[in-house]
Amino acid sequence: MKGLVLSGGTGTRLRPFTYSMPKQLMPVANKPVLHYCLENIRDLGVTSVGIIVGQRGGQVEQAIGDGADLGLDLTYLFQSAPLGLAHCVTVAERFLGDDDFVMYLGDNMLVGGLADAARDFAARRPAAKVLVTKVDDPQHYGVAELDAEGHVVSLTEKPEHPRSDLAMMGVYFFTPAVHEAVRGIRPSARGELEITDAVQRLVDSGRDVTAEVYQGYWADTGGVRELLGCNRVVLDAITGDVRGRVDGTSVLTGPVVVGAGTEIVGSRLEGPLTIGAGCVVRNARIGPHTAVGQNCQIENADVQESIVLENVHVEGVRGVRDSVIGRGARVRGTSCGSGAQRLLLGDQASIQVRSA
Ligand code: TTP
Repeated sequence: MKGLVLSGGTGTRLRPFTYSMPKQLMPVANKPVLHYCLENIRDLGVTSVGIIVGQRGGQVEQAIGDGADLGLDLTYLFQSAPLGLAHCVTVAERFLGDDDFVMYLGDNMLVGGLADAARDFAARRPAAKVLVTKVDDPQHYGVAELDAEGHVVSLTEKPEHPRSDLAMMGVYFFTPAVHEAVRGIRPSARGELEITDAVQRLVDSGRDVTAEVYQGYWADTGGVRELLGCNRVVLDAITGDVRGRVDGTSVLTGPVVVGAGTEIVGSRLEGPLTIGAGCVVRNARIGPHTAVGQNCQIENADVQESIVLENVHVEGVRGVRDSVIGRGARVRGTSCGSGAQRLLLGDQASIQVRSA
């Protein structure tokens, strides 16, 4: 079996960050979402993985490389425009050849892995197998209607009147039968080749398509709220590991990760949290549920429930929470009060805030 990871797309829901970086590189607990996805595929014993990339593919390649570190053999496949999930299968057709493959959306997080689903697919080998999960708002997803045995009867993209509460997640197992189905579909009203249409075509032509209700934690990290929620869940499971230097006046509670070369001075760190290498944290309160990337400087500031990317400088701002701060951003405050600040700052942004 091969892997096909989708790391192109537009990422409109994650602007302003996606103006300058692919959303699949947004970090959760200081590791790109794409990394978790590749680890899950690697854990299935799959080694040959194609990664669909778009205009910002260079950044993906720079961050992930040839996959040797992960034990993977990666092939980058360029998609000239985000023409849909099924279009990605077309782009990858030669790479995939006659192999079965697992297709995985590069912005999806599955905590709990995929081993059971992969085993079942290999044993029963339906034409396709999709993973689904129960949601409260199925009208925002591709919705699967199943029969009593778990066979897919119908799939509808963002239906006004959903026939079930089972949303398709971003993981699909396919036999090569999908290629013919993709060749038979036309762009949808939004101009994309939809994978739901291709899978529906398999169902309509009498092929066996099964679904499994995923039991682990799943998140589509394509929006800020979901990304922060996922960061919280992953941090809740971390184990403390302090490699940097913590001075005697600092207080650490809960699981705290501090990277090598980082200095913590006169600060309170409330785990779970992770701080990357090469940072300076002085007279600050950080956490819980906060991830700070490498080479950041945080002084006279409070940051909680947030994601701070690398090379960020935050000084003199109290009550930063539920925030995402992009690479190289500068935040200066003139506050000493306790007002909450919610900051969504793109790469290299520079702001001065004043709070009560
Ligand atoms: P989406 O989140 O559905 O699309 P998007 O990336 O354009 O995001 P937004 O809705 O915020 O504008 O894409 C799911 C995954 O598939 C994501 O990792 C991007 C990837 N993708 C491609 O690689 N090529 C494509 O043509 C599309 C549509 C998505």
